[in-house]
Amino acid sequence: MELKNQVIIVTGGASGIGLHACQQLAAKGARLIVADFNIEGAEKAATDLVKAGTQAHAFKVDVAKAESVETMVDFAVEKFGTLNGIFNNAGIGLVKPFLDMEPASYHRVIDVDQHSVYYGMYYAARKMVALGAKGTFVNTASIYGSMASVGSFNYNAAKAAVIMMTRSGALELAQHGIRVVAVAPGFINTPILGNDAAMKDALGKQHLHGKLIEPEKVASVVAFLFTDAASAITGSTIPVEDGFQVFKNS
Ligand SMILES: NC(=O)c1ccc[n+]([C@@H]2O[C@H](COP(=O)([O-])OP(=O)(O)OC[C@H]3O[C@@H](n4cnc5c(N)ncnc54)[C@H](O)[C@@H]3O)[C@@H](O)[C@H]2O)c1
Repeated sequence: MELKNQVIIVTGGASGIGLHACQQLAAKGARLIVADFNIEGAEKAATDLVKAGTQAHAFKVDVAKAESVETMVDFAVEKFGTLNGIFNNAGIGLVKPFLDMEPASYHRVIDVDQHSVYYGMYYAARKMVALGAKGTFVNTASIYGSMASVGSFNYNAAKAAVIMMTRSGALELAQHGIRVVAVAPGFINTPILGNDAAMKDALGKQHLHGKLIEPEKVASVVAFLFTDAASAITGSTIPVEDGFQVFKNS
């Protein structure tokens, strides 16, 4: 129970990495806000957590909108009286060749995958400093935040920004007792990858165990990063990539 009574917001908590993070943070004793645009999924996750003995509430958030993220942070404090961290994890992919990357597709991914992380860090930090609460922010970056990939100009840019916002935020928030860290997953077996089995198989083979990584493997690193056992880690981005390699087959 290393996180006993800690209050943590998880965005993208209805599915994939976020859903597994909720379960693993709950197992360590945290109280949770399961936040997602998919409110039915968030409510189901929160109900399951409550049945298992965790204090949890669902919240409908659009992480691309500053006011929605601010309301989510207020909701957490209203429900639990304090806040000890946020997992800025909600995200989307939108793969397009660069020559078709018109401003709407570019901005959509920057809004959801990049600006969301700033909003989460900003509103959570201001609230925690005002309350005198200490804790941890964990952001979901990607291997594609430091490695270019075809069709991912928008996603590459957003995730690279997440890595630097993690470092820059850590620098300024350390004095307030807030650590900021990120995880950089390889390819994870979640709905974001779609349903193309052949494509998923090929992506899986680029990892050293030859298959996609299961979301609980990322969640366990995330849960560890929230604990005091990780107190010497801040500003860093931790790869969870199973030795991902770009293979050239032709
Ligand atoms: N799956 C992978 O291979 C992989 C690899 C590297 C990084 N990531 C990152 O991991 C994070 C989680 O993705 P996942 O793989 O668990 O996918 P997922 O699709 O299972 O989960 C993403 C969740 O984010 C929510 N979401 C999307 N847009 C939102 C918005 N505007 N407001 C609120 N919620 C929103 C979705 O409803 C969904 O529940 C994302 O940031 C993604 O970029 C995933």
